[in-house]
Amino acid sequence: MPHHDTPTVPERELALGLDAAAHAARVEAGLRRQIDAGGGFLSFERFMDYALYAPGLGYYSGGAQKLGKDGDFTTAPEVSRLFGACVAVQCAEVMASIAQPVVLEIGAGTGRLAVDVLTRLESLGALPARYVILESSADLRDRQRRLLEFCVPHLRPRVDWVDGPPADDFEGVIIANEVLDALPVARFRWRAGAGAGVVEELGVVLDSEGFAWGARPAGAAMSSAVADIRSSAALCWDEGYESEYCPRLGAWTHAVTAKLKRGCVLWFDYGLPRAQYYFAERHQGTLLCHYRHRAHDDPFLYPGLQDITAWVDFTSLAEASQSAGFELAGFTTQAHFLAATGIDHEMRRLAADDGARFARLAGEARQLMLPGEMGERFKVMAWLRDIDAELRGLSFVDLRHSL
Ligand SMILES: C[S@@+](CC[C@H](N)C(=O)[O-])C[C@H]1O[C@@H](n2cnc3c(N)ncnc32)[C@H](O)[C@@H]1O
Repeated sequence: MPHHDTPTVPERELALGLDAAAHAARVEAGLRRQIDAGGGFLSFERFMDYALYAPGLGYYSGGAQKLGKDGDFTTAPEVSRLFGACVAVQCAEVMASIAQPVVLEIGAGTGRLAVDVLTRLESLGALPARYVILESSADLRDRQRRLLEFCVPHLRPRVDWVDGPPADDFEGVIIANEVLDALPVARFRWRAGAGAGVVEELGVVLDSEGFAWGARPAGAAMSSAVADIRSSAALCWDEGYESEYCPRLGAWTHAVTAKLKRGCVLWFDYGLPRAQYYFAERHQGTLLCHYRHRAHDDPFLYPGLQDITAWVDFTSLAEASQSAGFELAGFTTQAHFLAATGIDHEMRRLAADDGARFARLAGEARQLMLPGEMGERFKVMAWLRDIDAELRGLSFVDLRHSL
C-alpha cells in the first residue's frame, strides 16, 4: 500500500505554484472536515468523489487544465483524430437504420472527440439529428463549447449539453471514452487468516503527516461484493491482498443508458475481465493517479490537482449492461477495433497524399494500437438494444469468452 509523503507547505508552493498550492490546501481542508465528520475515517470512495468532483474544488469541477499536453494526461482522441474518425465509422453503421439518430457522448473532455466524430460523420453524409454531450464538469463544458465553435461552427447548432442523464427517449449511439475509470471506487484488503478469511475496508485517516491509509472491518455491502468477486472469478488471494471495485458502476451505467430505446452503447476504457483484474499477482489493485504527465499510485498527493483513476472491471460492466436489457455486441481491444473500422483507410484519407502528414499519422496510429502503448490495455465493449447489427469494429476479435 503506498504511504503518502505529503510535501510540507513551502515545498508544495515551490513545486506547484502559489495558486495551485492554495487550491490543494482548500481541497485538503474539505477532506479533513469529511474525515472528522466520519469519526476519523473516510471511505476511499467518498475521498475519491470529493477529490475529483466536489463543486468548485474537485479535479474535474475546478479549473485545472486536465487533458492535453499542458495538462496531466492524454487520451486517445487527444493523441489523434484517427480515433474519432474510426468511432464515427462505427456510429454511421449503427445509425444507418435509424431515422432521427442522436449521438450521446458521455464525459467529452476537451471536446476533441466530438469535433472529430462530427467531422467524419459529415464527410460520410451521416450526421446525427443531434449530438448531445453529458458532461459533469462546467469548466470542461465551456472548453468543449469553445472547441466546437472554433473547429466546426456550422455544426455547433446540432450540439447540446446536459449535466445529468437524458430525460427523453432517443435512438442512436452512446459513446464514452475513459469515463468509467473516473468513477469513484471502494478499496478493500483481504485478510486470509484462519477459516474463510475476512474483508477490511481501506479508507483515509489523518496521521501526524497528513492523509494516510486506514482500515476497518468491511460492512455487509462490501463483504458481499468482495465475496461475489472471489466466487465468480475463482480467485485465491494471499494475506493482505488489496484491490478496489466500483460500487456505483451498475446504477450509473443504468441511469445514463436508460433512455436509449434503440441503438448501441460503445464503452472505451482501460481495464480487464474480472478474473484478470483480480489476479493474485496484482495485489495492490489498479489505482493510478496522473499529475502533469507523471503516473503514480498515491491518491493523497495534490488533492484536487491530480486525476485519480482505477481500471474497469469489464465483467462487472457486462453484468450491469445485461441486467439493463442490453445485448452484448462484442468485446475487443482498442487496436482490433481501430483496425476493423479501417484506421489504415482513415490515415490515407486524412494524409491526402502528403507524405509528411502520413508519417505523422502513422506515428499516432502506432501509439493508439501498439500493445505496449494503448492498443491492448484499452478495450472496447459494445451493447445493442432493439437493433439487429453486426458491428464492424467488433468483427476482428471477440474477447467475450474472457468475461
Ligand atoms: C478522463 S476524461 C476523458 C475525456 C474524453 N472522453 C477523452 O477521451 O478525451 C473524463 C471525462 O469524463 C467526465 N466525467 C467524469 N465523471 C462524469 C460523470 N459522472 N458524468 C459525466 N461526465 C463525467 C469528466 O469531466 C471528463 O470530461
